[in-house]
Amino acid sequence: MKSHGRLSIHASTKPRDLMAPQPLAGAWTARVLTLYPEMFPGTLGHSLLGRAHDQGLWRLEVQNIREHGIGKHRTVDDTPAGGGPGMVLRADVLDAALAASGKTRGKWPTIYLSPRGKPFDQSMARALAQTDGVTLLCGRFEGVDQRVLDKHRIQEVSLGDFVLTGGEIAAQALIDATVRLIPRVLGNAESTVEESFSQGLLEHPQYTRPTEWDGRPIPEILLSGHHAQIAAWRRAQAEALTKERRPDLWRAYLERQGKDPETGQELSDAHTIAAKGETKD
Ligand code: ADE
Repeated sequence: MKSHGRLSIHASTKPRDLMAPQPLAGAWTARVLTLYPEMFPGTLGHSLLGRAHDQGLWRLEVQNIREHGIGKHRTVDDTPAGGGPGMVLRADVLDAALAASGKTRGKWPTIYLSPRGKPFDQSMARALAQTDGVTLLCGRFEGVDQRVLDKHRIQEVSLGDFVLTGGEIAAQALIDATVRLIPRVLGNAESTVEESFSQGLLEHPQYTRPTEWDGRPIPEILLSGHHAQIAAWRRAQAEALTKERRPDLWRAYLERQGKDPETGQELSDAHTIAAKGETKD
């Protein structure tokens, strides 16, 4: 087998098992409540997720909050109690939208996408992929009336420490990260990408042909065919990147390995192994 730094690419080129039985009504479902239904499916209609949707591996239901607005103008918001800028989505409107959104089955959380929520991460995506579905409330304006969040025990989830103009992009990101973990959505080759993150490390750098480009060669070790040494090099790279860019992930990684987050002594093993060109096993 030729290796041009393509280890993960040739992991499997087998087509998805098209003969496997197709899921019927019970497919994982994302139910989205939004004032901008035309923003969906957006990115979710393309590529892997779009194909998986067409195969019935997951479902998307989009509902317009405006349909539950009050009066002739279908008003959905009002000024914040206590004063301040912006508008707040009304509890009665959202309550009606939730009630009309249909029955849920099994394990089915409701999430409000908001910058003050719990930060979304891979473990949350994994947990969501184990549910039967999720209802996602996309806000706009300054927020939503707290009483509807309390009544329906809605969890708040944030994509990160920045403010988007609304929850729609965040909802699509959350759905994307979750659906790709549903069985049979990814082919085997793509599944290996998850393995790297599930170790709690950032991914090592990748290269492909040409072996030299713009005077920059691919690191020699990747062309060596020594799989154990390549694995050690990649691990060392992933560790170095994580240490530099994400001290939070790095500390958690050390702790999981039973190592002192301050010194992390033993972890230099992987660097040493890579540097010496030795293998651990
Ligand atoms: N809505 C607005 N900002 C957001 C964020 N950072 N994450 C999730 N939803 C949001």
